[in-house]
Amino acid sequence: MTAPLRVALAGLGTVGTGVVQLIRQNGDLIAERAGRRIEISAVSARDRNRDRGIDLSEFSWVDDLEQLASNNNTDCVIEMIGGSDGPALDLARKSLANGQSVVTANKAMIAHHGLELAKLAETSGSLLKYEAAVAGGIPVIKGLKEGAAANEIARVYGILNGTCNYILTTMEKHGSDFEEVLKEAQNLGFAEADPSFDIDGVDAAHKLAILASLSFGNAIDFGGVDTSGIRDIMAADISQAKALGYRIRLLGMARIDDGKLFQRVNPYLVPENHPLAHIEGSTNAVVAEGNFSGRLMFQGAGAGDGPTASAVVADIIDIARGDNGTVFASPANQMVAIDRAESGNRKGKSYIRFVVADKPGVLAEITAAMRDADVSIESLIQTEKTDEGNVLISMVTHDATEGDVTKSLASLSSSTSVTGEPMIMHLLSDDD
Ligand code: HSE
Repeated sequence: MTAPLRVALAGLGTVGTGVVQLIRQNGDLIAERAGRRIEISAVSARDRNRDRGIDLSEFSWVDDLEQLASNNNTDCVIEMIGGSDGPALDLARKSLANGQSVVTANKAMIAHHGLELAKLAETSGSLLKYEAAVAGGIPVIKGLKEGAAANEIARVYGILNGTCNYILTTMEKHGSDFEEVLKEAQNLGFAEADPSFDIDGVDAAHKLAILASLSFGNAIDFGGVDTSGIRDIMAADISQAKALGYRIRLLGMARIDDGKLFQRVNPYLVPENHPLAHIEGSTNAVVAEGNFSGRLMFQGAGAGDGPTASAVVADIIDIARGDNGTVFASPANQMVAIDRAESGNRKGKSYIRFVVADKPGVLAEITAAMRDADVSIESLIQTEKTDEGNVLISMVTHDATEGDVTKSLASLSSSTSVTGEPMIMHLLSDDD
């Protein structure tokens, strides 16, 4: 058998320790499939003395990350530190420049610096792999980069954040409000103590920017993702959506519109007959539409130590087998940015919810603003009074441009009857 692949592991959180456990438990099977053993040659983390529940005594401990990056006895560095910049980025840059391959689960680093790192890897003849960075254990990077490589992809979209999907589907099941479910999710360990990256859509935007690049071949454009999260969704929005035949899901959506790149993370109303409406709890699902493959759907656990370690070790196995592909869908030095599409010209149906004072003329004021912006209303529901004595008005528009919908809402911004910001969500359609 060929000599073992020597890997160094930087970062021993739940995923890092999961990687150690997986390599230990399935070592023989992995060696058989890879044609050589995977040998952990060194480990590194901030706190050497923390009890991680696994025995690390057989590995050499390295405190200085520089030493990992420049160690010529290591073939591959597994970066599990996290964060878009700082030590993770330093380690990745130095290791790749030194000709060592890098495996990472770090979506923020890939979304911000992926192209630079890919150029470094392709110049030095090393590999950069990041299957675990998008949708945890689901082999969607491989699916798009390899399985769907022959297709022109029209759009790629999906449920990319398990925390948000857990919160939304729990709200749906129990009719509870966002804050209550978020607290529960934090107590159960489904949401971070600081949940903002997840619930404000940033985590999903990192993943979407990577998926878009793999689908369309563009240089990753994280800054071009129009991002909003789920904080403002009320239990009433979920029940109104249900009454209309939809479920609310936070989706990442990317497509090419007239040669320009459209990327958005937003809560959408998903028709009940669409497979994404049936993705529950912390599961992730990605849909890609290829011109020869048709609709592909990848579904599974988007987080957790086991699924994420599974994706990390799959990358290590590829390296052990001598994979020599490009980092993204095409060679890094050929990847260029695609101009960003304006969302204002996009046409579709929207759900709009207002919180208003229950007094004569309010509905007339809203419908007049819609009329003046040329937005036609398809259906409208008014709910009973809230504790504060307001009522909720929810409507679905006919097809209208997003620019016209924004215009109609802008003209209501000085209204004394409309309380707070109206909530807008788009309805997922076949040509969204
Ligand atoms: N925090 C992410 C989620 C998993 O909730 O899906 C890691 O990206």
